[in-house]
Amino acid sequence: MQSRFQDHLPPTDIIPTFPYGHVVKIGSKSVSIRQVIAVNCKTRVYRVREGDENFVLKELLPSHPDYYECTTHQALNGHPHIVRYVDSDWGTVYRDRFLLLMEYAPFGDLRDVIRDFGPLRREVAWKFFDQIISAVGHMHRLGHVHDAIHPRNVFAFSSDLCKLGDFGNGTRINEDPRFGLKMTVREARDIQGAVDTLLFLLLGFWPKEDTAFWEIFEAIEKDEEARLMLTNYDLDGVVSIADLMYIRSFYHEDFYKRPIPEAYGRLRTSYLNEQLFIWFVWR
Ligand SMILES: Nc1ncnc2c1ncn2[C@@H]1O[C@H](COP(=O)(O)OP(=O)(O)OP(=O)(O)O)[C@@H](O)[C@H]1O
Ligand SMILES: [Mg+2]
Repeated sequence: MQSRFQDHLPPTDIIPTFPYGHVVKIGSKSVSIRQVIAVNCKTRVYRVREGDENFVLKELLPSHPDYYECTTHQALNGHPHIVRYVDSDWGTVYRDRFLLLMEYAPFGDLRDVIRDFGPLRREVAWKFFDQIISAVGHMHRLGHVHDAIHPRNVFAFSSDLCKLGDFGNGTRINEDPRFGLKMTVREARDIQGAVDTLLFLLLGFWPKEDTAFWEIFEAIEKDEEARLMLTNYDLDGVVSIADLMYIRSFYHEDFYKRPIPEAYGRLRTSYLNEQLFIWFVWR
């Protein structure tokens, strides 16, 4: 029987970490624990293996029994830029353990990539941006916002391929935008997260943390100012003036004036807006 003291211990202290070599059965897979990748108060992440294939096993601790993450991840499966969901188990195999099995990204998340390789080549950064945006469009059309689009939640498989993962922070979208708007504030915020990530990949640092850089960036209105910024920060080979102006436009204070990249695909609300348009025209 648990004492009162144990009741107050964090779940990480009560539920032991799976040891190296331990075999976990999850769905049709029997995976063996190879490495603890990360531990925090709500999750543990392991690299596991079956045969010669690596997977990631994410353990959602009872303080954080996240059905939403598992069911959302499963619902989004099948898109080329969404980390592949493999299986999940909600406490039936191991009481108190919520397990999510997914494909393993050999280069880790985009923070790992920047730490290991420095800023990415321009074409790779833009390719990754389009891939993230297409995953975001897919999510929104299925009625979910991610709410944490950030380099730590985008995973690298090669210099041609990245995928969006970690669906534990978002929610379902319950509302439609105000009449005529293309998306809700939270959907727009997901796109802005992808643009933050693009800047991080191009520059190799998180620009919002460099206050001086960010103030100058946000003040850009004309090509001349963009040109000056590129010269002052030695960014001529990194981003063109046109690209910098385009990136800047995503931070327009009115979110509905921000562009929506082509890679996003069809708007979730396009059907709704078409119907409203027809209604207005015919009245
Ligand atoms: N599919 C994966 N392949 C490789 N590494 C992964 C995979 N999923 C997660 N990781 C790594 O596991 C670690 C923990 O990931 P997790 O998403 O649980 O936490 P986080 O991203 O640090 O936190 P947050 O929930 O705030 O995003 C990160 O370093 C991440 O890069
Ligand atoms: Mg994460």
